[in-house]
Amino acid sequence: MSSLIQSALSDFETKNKRLVGRLTNLLDTICASDALHGLFLNTLSMMEHIGSRKIMVTQGRTDMDQPTLKHLADETRHAFFMKRHAETATKRTLAYGSGDVLAHAAARMYFQRLELAMRQSLSGPSAAVYLYMSMIVEFRATWGYGIFQAALKRAGRNLPLKSLLAEEEQHLEDMARRLDRVGALSRDYIDAFTSQETRGFERLLSALEQDSRVAAADSAPREALLSYGTA
Ligand SMILES: [Fe+2]
Ligand SMILES: [Fe+2]
Repeated sequence: MSSLIQSALSDFETKNKRLVGRLTNLLDTICASDALHGLFLNTLSMMEHIGSRKIMVTQGRTDMDQPTLKHLADETRHAFFMKRHAETATKRTLAYGSGDVLAHAAARMYFQRLELAMRQSLSGPSAAVYLYMSMIVEFRATWGYGIFQAALKRAGRNLPLKSLLAEEEQHLEDMARRLDRVGALSRDYIDAFTSQETRGFERLLSALEQDSRVAAADSAPREALLSYGTA
């Protein structure tokens, strides 16, 4: 990995330290319930699917090179993997509507806002938007899936994320290499886009915390504890 990316990643980690506790609490609440766990996996499935659709629409109509096809296949497989495990957890089929997805509007907006910000900054062909979008989202994916992996382990849930996480890390490196090759890799852009992405992720995190299904599960054990304490 290039030193530019290494230092950008470590900056990202530092800037996001304050969010680790919040995400950990959220994921512990989610992992404690089969129903929420299933809905959350379906939410991740939808986001992986949006990611794979974004790859499609940012490519020219008639051409797609081998690395892009591989990336598209990986993201589609991630969406399938999450959907399969989601439906195993809920024991029913799940759709990508608000009934089966947590923080539905915020999850969709996460991509829209980021793409819009990038289109405003990057003039020229949408290939650069595809590369930057993918790279910045991979910063979040590798960070978030790592925290999710630890929460799953604490909850005793068996969801093998190892190879998925390795693929996301590989995507990050591929995007950085391809941006570098076309002379478009810039630390200023990375900093601007990761700041933008972090604001979007915070909005998504708040929306997940405030989703009525999550909030109900989060308050239930505390209320039980409270009434136990006063009994
Ligand atoms: Fe993915
Ligand atoms: Fe990826």
